[in-house]
Amino acid sequence: KPVVLSGIQPTGGMTIGNYVGAINQWLKLQNDHDCHFMLVDLHAITVRQDPAQLRERVLDGVALYTACGIDPDKSALFVQSQVPEHAQLGWVLNCYAQMGELNRMTQFKDKSAKHSNNVNVGLFAYPVLQAADILLYQADQVPVGEDQKQHLELTRDIATRFNNLYGDVFKVPEPYIPEVGARVMSLQDPLKKMSKSDDNPNAFVMLLDEPKKIEKKLKKAVTDSDEQARIYFDRAEKPGVSNLLTLLSVATKRSVDELVPEYEDKMYGHLKKDTAEAVVNMLNPIQARFKEIREDRALLDEIMRKGAEKAGARAEKTLKAVYNAVGFIPRG
Ligand code: TYM
Repeated sequence: KPVVLSGIQPTGGMTIGNYVGAINQWLKLQNDHDCHFMLVDLHAITVRQDPAQLRERVLDGVALYTACGIDPDKSALFVQSQVPEHAQLGWVLNCYAQMGELNRMTQFKDKSAKHSNNVNVGLFAYPVLQAADILLYQADQVPVGEDQKQHLELTRDIATRFNNLYGDVFKVPEPYIPEVGARVMSLQDPLKKMSKSDDNPNAFVMLLDEPKKIEKKLKKAVTDSDEQARIYFDRAEKPGVSNLLTLLSVATKRSVDELVPEYEDKMYGHLKKDTAEAVVNMLNPIQARFKEIREDRALLDEIMRKGAEKAGARAEKTLKAVYNAVGFIPRG
């Protein structure tokens, strides 16, 4: 079975962008792939976190993955810091990544501008740790949204560089980016990516937002002002409408091509209302399951334990090969 790995930062909950760009793809892969899905708490501390809150957020994340349908019996669902090989391989790969290439990472540029009082070394090395995450599992495919493309290119470059020096130690992974929904846009500015760190909370829908809130946010969504308020899919000409059509398509599991004709004589208001209804219907069962699972600490502990055990077994193998390749002596 092809190996899959992906992860999300356990900070501030998950947006519908995370769902559409990542989790929704994971659900499609988990039946016939060897999947590994993690919460990247090591990555999270590149930005200052409150320890008690981080703990709660990681538990939220485990519950939310499960509530979305990630099956801990099929996939390894785990917490990054519980598999120490991530940090260990991360260090080794730091020595095979160049300052110059990390300097070009747009996520680093954005984040260091935003958190200019804490531009720490971890934030700079963030994409190298991400490369370690992926290469540890010899992943064939990495299902992510479009914003992660650059990090995946870097991962491929590091893997190839390492292999050229030491032989075929790493599988060179492929990105797996969805055709629809690779970049869900802000509801307030459809030229900007939807992000949970947006200052305007109306810009994003969180998976755990209450139905009323979701309806309100979608009602307020900025649509496109052109002379004829027609509804069709065109990211350049109609970014706002296209974004709503994308959400509607994912939430109803119907293709955009199938949906568009139904809006021929309709107005933006109809599209917003239908999208809100579809999103609420999609999230309802997820929210109900989340509530249940989140209260069951024993269950969460068991999921994390099983996931770390499964992931750890594979990670250990790769780390051994890497240590051997670079010339480390195993502990006797
Ligand atoms: P993060 O936590 O920012 O986002 C998690 C996933 O959600 C996708 N995503 C989106 N997709 C579509 N539209 C959006 N508006 C949107 N916003 C977020 C992201 O592309 C991502 O797939 N560096 C990663 C976490 C990471 C990782 C990894 C991912 C660490 N190690 C190894 C894959 C493999 C990140 O910050 O994702």
